[in-house]
Amino acid sequence: MANHQKVLFAVLLLAALTSATLLWSSGRAASLPDSPGTPIPAVPLRVPPESSIPAGPKGDLIRLGKNIITDTPQYASAYTGNDMKCSDCHIGGGTVAFASPLGGVTTLFPWYSPRAKRVITIQDRLNECFVRSQNGKPLPSDSREMIAMIAYMNWLSQGVPMGSTVQGRGLLRLEAPAKIDAKAGEQIYAKQCSMCHGASGEGTPGMAPPLWGPRSINDGAGMSKVPKMAAFVKANMPPTQPGSLTVEEAFDVAAYVDSHPRPHYNPIYDKY
Ligand code: HEC
Ligand code: HEC
Repeated sequence: MANHQKVLFAVLLLAALTSATLLWSSGRAASLPDSPGTPIPAVPLRVPPESSIPAGPKGDLIRLGKNIITDTPQYASAYTGNDMKCSDCHIGGGTVAFASPLGGVTTLFPWYSPRAKRVITIQDRLNECFVRSQNGKPLPSDSREMIAMIAYMNWLSQGVPMGSTVQGRGLLRLEAPAKIDAKAGEQIYAKQCSMCHGASGEGTPGMAPPLWGPRSINDGAGMSKVPKMAAFVKANMPPTQPGSLTVEEAFDVAAYVDSHPRPHYNPIYDKY
């Protein structure tokens, strides 16, 4: 083969491999919690190294976004109404599969929200978690905090094409068992959860967030619904042995948690 033919051959081979990889990854579509039925292409979840945060004002913004997400009561105190941090559910600052990772999310917006029955922006989606999971208030779209969280999520989304997401987006998709037993859940809670989350669900400062009571999420939050909590618990709790509960046990313990009071969602925020 002449040299130029070799080069041509190499280029063609590379093109074929690239399109094969693209086909393969788009074939592994994620079924998506908040969007209308169509499967969305998903690429492997990759967490960029901290060192790739640029110096200067843009880097400062990304770091502020990370601080808000990992210590919400401190960095977004004006908008937070409980002791929850975003990273109590979006574990590791949104870097863990099936703990609703935050990379590959800004690439999907704006989208149609069946809950809000309208097309929503990423700002609207972040505010949904502020008025529900944080039991707080919505942030102005142009506030520094809002822009910082978006900058951080964009930084986490490096390498995820527009319109695509990451594998492990959202929570595990579980089939609910035929029978859910909150009484059995009480036993599991006492043995495997209360040492961190407290006998009265109040949490342990610096160790684990509240699961119910006045400082917890409100009853409009996704995590307050038994199927979502079960899916989160199955994949992530207890943190020392994630995956150790059966699906039935995850539903039972979620039903037990759900049998306790928590703050009510404020309907003046119904837009979110
Ligand atoms: C109590 C748990 C909890 C807390 C705290 C929480 N969220 Fe969420 N968040 C969820 C759940 C559950 C979902 C929906 C996941 C699903 O349905 O698959 C979600 C979804 C999201 C989404 C959309 C993700 C996607 O893939 O569509 C974003 C963005 C988001 N949250 C941001 C935040 C931010 C920012 C904060 C802090 C201000 C926060 N969340 C606090 C539980 C929480
Ligand atoms: C070793 C301490 C520990 C144990 C044991 C533990 N958790 Fe957690 N839990 C945490 C921490 C810490 C978080 C915050 C996420 C993270 O950083 O992993 C969390 C987060 C959660 C959340 C999401 C946040 C919220 O407030 O809604 C739920 C739900 C939850 N745990 C339920 C359980 C259940 C149910 C069990 C028992 C099967 C359990 N946990 C056992 C430490 C613990």
